[in-house]
Amino acid sequence: MQSPHSCNAEAALPGSVAPRYAGDLMKTTTPDTLISPADLLERLDWRYAVKQFDPTRRIDESTWSALEESLRLSPSSGGLQPWKFVVVADPTVREKLVSAAFGQTQVRDASHLVVFTAKKDFGAADVDAHIRNVAAVKGVPVESLAGLRGMLMGGIVGAKDSAGREAWAARQTYLALGVLIASAALLGVDAAPMEGFVPDQFDTILGLKELGLTATVVCALGYRSETDPYALAPKVRFGYDQVFLHV
Ligand SMILES: Cc1cc2nc3c(=O)[nH]c(=O)nc-3n(C[C@H](O)[C@H](O)[C@H](O)COP(=O)(O)O)c2cc1C
Repeated sequence: MQSPHSCNAEAALPGSVAPRYAGDLMKTTTPDTLISPADLLERLDWRYAVKQFDPTRRIDESTWSALEESLRLSPSSGGLQPWKFVVVADPTVREKLVSAAFGQTQVRDASHLVVFTAKKDFGAADVDAHIRNVAAVKGVPVESLAGLRGMLMGGIVGAKDSAGREAWAARQTYLALGVLIASAALLGVDAAPMEGFVPDQFDTILGLKELGLTATVVCALGYRSETDPYALAPKVRFGYDQVFLHV
């Protein structure tokens, strides 16, 4: 998708005054336009993991486009983005995924469905693709990024075996999932994060194996059904002292 932000999320070069994004969002955001702490908490309290979506309600195009962009803007370790976000629109495929998700109907009834996938066997070629992108966005020669390349290869790729790299890549996709869930809540869109599915079956149904990808987690998005009893359930969370440690 061609985004309104024509470059990626890399930081500007040291000393550069170039805006980070074409839209220069950072510069134009003033405290007046930021969401208040109370409003943020209201949005996060409003959200819950939807069990029943209203199959008649669709996310409009511009809202969906912003949600896709929130995924593309997600941070990742080393900026390496070892993922592909698979948006499944085909109703026949969505129906097939229900049984591979233990009968969970969210994958069929939600307006949109994202299957997060991690690149299998992430390696030198992927790092090089990233380095070429950094060079293009920053307008610097690839050769000048040899140090960065060495760091990414040594620190992330070379330091892990194949299973370790796959686990690392999967962790990055969960970060993107968190960004998507929070972004959706801010836009008044409901979401259902889902681990309850058989990755191997999803990989087969979606043809991911041929693409060197594997499904890690799923997120259905749309609007809650008025009859979803979970909408009224209280939030179950441990108390502050149980989840925070101040050192
Ligand atoms: C990564 C992840 C996977 C989840 N998988 C499922 C799932 O397969 N089915 C389901 O009904 N809920 C699933 N949930 C929802 C959680 O059970 C839910 O987020 C949690 O109980 C907290 O409730 P709340 O999100 O409604 O506040 C998942 C949540 C996360 C973050």
